[in-house]
Amino acid sequence: QELKLNLEQIEKGGYDHFMLKEIHEQPKAINDTYRGRLLRQEAIIKMAGVEDNMKKFLNANRIIIVACGTSWHAGLVAEYIFEDLARIPVEVEYASEFRYRNPIITEKDIVIAISQSGETADTLAAIKLAKSKGTFVFGVCNVVGSSIARETHAGAYTHAGPEIGVASTKAFTTQITVLTLIALRLSRAKGTISSSEFRQHLLELEMIPDKIISALKSDTHIKEISDLYKDSRNCLYLGRGYNFPVALEGALKLKEISYIHAEGYPAAEMKHGPIALIDENMPIVVIATKKGHYEKVVSNIQEIKSRKGKIIAIVTEGDTQVRALADHVIEVPETLESLSPLITTIPLQLLSYHIAVLLGKNVDQPRNLAKSVTVE
Ligand code: G6P
Repeated sequence: QELKLNLEQIEKGGYDHFMLKEIHEQPKAINDTYRGRLLRQEAIIKMAGVEDNMKKFLNANRIIIVACGTSWHAGLVAEYIFEDLARIPVEVEYASEFRYRNPIITEKDIVIAISQSGETADTLAAIKLAKSKGTFVFGVCNVVGSSIARETHAGAYTHAGPEIGVASTKAFTTQITVLTLIALRLSRAKGTISSSEFRQHLLELEMIPDKIISALKSDTHIKEISDLYKDSRNCLYLGRGYNFPVALEGALKLKEISYIHAEGYPAAEMKHGPIALIDENMPIVVIATKKGHYEKVVSNIQEIKSRKGKIIAIVTEGDTQVRALADHVIEVPETLESLSPLITTIPLQLLSYHIAVLLGKNVDQPRNLAKSVTVE
């Protein structure tokens, strides 16, 4: 028994939980994801699975992304980046809905299946359905040799390393990294991005690991905020554009490990429902970074404030406007809008982690949840 405990402590590498270890592993994991693929000096992106199927990608009418859970959120981020940079229409589907709703797919579409474990039953079934319609299926998996990796026609691994905590962290950010690389490669091939814009993206991508290290420095501050809100029954997460899926993911993280009811919303949708919930007992996490609809998010924050909601804002370093309005601000380094989910996700992971720990929950193995869902 003692030996087992010691072994587990070694595996956790000095961290109290696997989740915290995996949160801190993200700079390295992302570096591992783009290493050998992003060649900044040559200004190219090399990914065998994309290169070998370039014609299919370039001729595709649309890309349909299928996934579940956190991987589905990575798919939503990818939708923004594929459409924005590569100008390819994208639809993002829950694998469980897609497989049962007689979807219209043909050999002119491409399906991208995203899965950390590579074993999710619904995602696997969605892949089989797409293949039966003659559709090319590309996999983005973490676990090498997994069922989904084997079942897809081609793919790209995330190289995040083993993820033990049930709540996905580094798998999510590395999925976004892989999908960003693919979108950038296709934008270059299609000519929808200028060479200077492309180079700037490569440069900024290479700076992401260091920026995550700097975002992680807010840990103590986030722990203090967590202590103030740990007894809340509900929590709202708001974001716009690229950071709307981040709001969904932040809410999911909180639900999964602290069992606090949380909902993610596009900030502008607040007025169509969630605003009715706002009072002095409602904490609202708002992603309000400088690039991307900043002024609009500021006015959403003003609406919350006038209803006495408690505002925890994720802001760009040096921000003053939101600081003057919010109850708490958590600063993150600035990056391109298209890459911002890789940074804004970090404080939300820490927030849910600390709340769950303070509540004494089983962070790595939350009740009722499984790391890999191999049943329907
Ligand atoms: C489970 C896990 C989630 C994960 C989802 C999809 O619900 O608890 O963390 O996002 O399955 O898993 P996959 O392995 O396909 O990414």
